[in-house]
Amino acid sequence: LRNPETVISEPQAKVTLFEAAELLRNDEVVAIPTETVYGLAANAFSPAAITKIYATKNRPQDNPLIVHVSSLAMLEEILPDHRIPPIYLPVINRFWPGPLTIILPKSDRIPAIACNQPTVAVRFPSHPIARALITQCGFPLAAPSANSSGKPSPTIASHVISDLDTKIPLVLDGGQCYFGIESTVLDALRSPPAILRPGGVTFEALKEVLGMEELQVYKKHFVDVQLEMTPTTPGMKYRHYSPEAQVVLFEKPIPLGNGLVPTIDNTNCKGFELSTMVAMTILETDIESLRSSIAHEVEQLLSAGNRKFGILRTSSSSLQDITKNRGSTFKSSTEFTVVEKFLGSALHPEQVAHELFKCLREMDAQGMDVILVEGISEDREGLAVMNRLRKAASRIVTM
Ligand code: TXA
Ligand code: MG
Repeated sequence: LRNPETVISEPQAKVTLFEAAELLRNDEVVAIPTETVYGLAANAFSPAAITKIYATKNRPQDNPLIVHVSSLAMLEEILPDHRIPPIYLPVINRFWPGPLTIILPKSDRIPAIACNQPTVAVRFPSHPIARALITQCGFPLAAPSANSSGKPSPTIASHVISDLDTKIPLVLDGGQCYFGIESTVLDALRSPPAILRPGGVTFEALKEVLGMEELQVYKKHFVDVQLEMTPTTPGMKYRHYSPEAQVVLFEKPIPLGNGLVPTIDNTNCKGFELSTMVAMTILETDIESLRSSIAHEVEQLLSAGNRKFGILRTSSSSLQDITKNRGSTFKSSTEFTVVEKFLGSALHPEQVAHELFKCLREMDAQGMDVILVEGISEDREGLAVMNRLRKAASRIVTM
């Protein structure tokens, strides 16, 4: 609700859900929690309502929306021949309801303004508020993430309020989103199937499902040329997830303390992929060179006039050491301040995913000039985390 501090009782909550459905029936937009991020929802069948989504978010018109359903019957209703392509059945069985979006043939029931393509992206969310609301409405809800276009997606209700407050009539507050990053977008209409956007359902988990053995995905260190060249998800061409502060991403995972470091394991995927974290002892000189490359980066940022540094850590790392021992590390005597936050353990990418957008926004709220972020490996949820971080970063330092 408007004031995120307000706790409402269950009967009141039912009234609020009813109110939200009423607004949606009247072509209004409502911000809703989902298990991934908050969405800005409107009636997927109403061009007038969908126009409001684009205007409210300031979203480019050629970036199509995801349509949210609360049952398979509702899905079948919006397919051209009312039939789910068989390739999707095992995936649906395994991951729905949940953080997976699938690309399907589009019928005329979905207006061109929601999606000006021969296909439509559909998701069946697991969040109880989202499901109850769609059921209450009786029609599917088109919903992009509920941020101003370009900002990190909202993972708590107050993020929505800070971006869109006066532009929308209602925010349903469901607390912090469970996953914290958006859904995985899967296109299995193409052969072999491909992940167009990594997200809450991991590549590893999808690949285990019947029919997904050849699943492809874009990874920085394992680029499939064909996937790279063909237009995939229209949204990929836009800048995303950017806080106000300049983001500098340090790509190679940073030592885990005790002289342990994640390193490159090339047993996987044709030897190109930066993959499984393997802990091994590294030489003192490696730590030194790592330190000096971070120190060099900070020196450059200082000379460009930056004074407030945010650090997002994923390990007990050298980013921290550097700023703590700044007297002995930095040549310049410029004063600067440091605010540090822990994103989660590099070995638990789901924790990092859960905190990432929230921490980026908190750094902005504290007026940081620069945010230095430690990368993690692309395993499991790490793939989605690194995808979002690379899009947020204005500079990537590869070590
Ligand atoms: O977790 C989520 O997916 C959240 C919650 C609210 O459900 N929604 C979300 O929506 O992230 P949005 O609009 O921020 O991202 C939708 C993505 C975009 O990258 C868009 O280009 C892609 O899905 N997309 C939509 N329709 C598509 C289509 N027909 N073909 C390929 N990509 C499509
Ligand atoms: Mg979005």
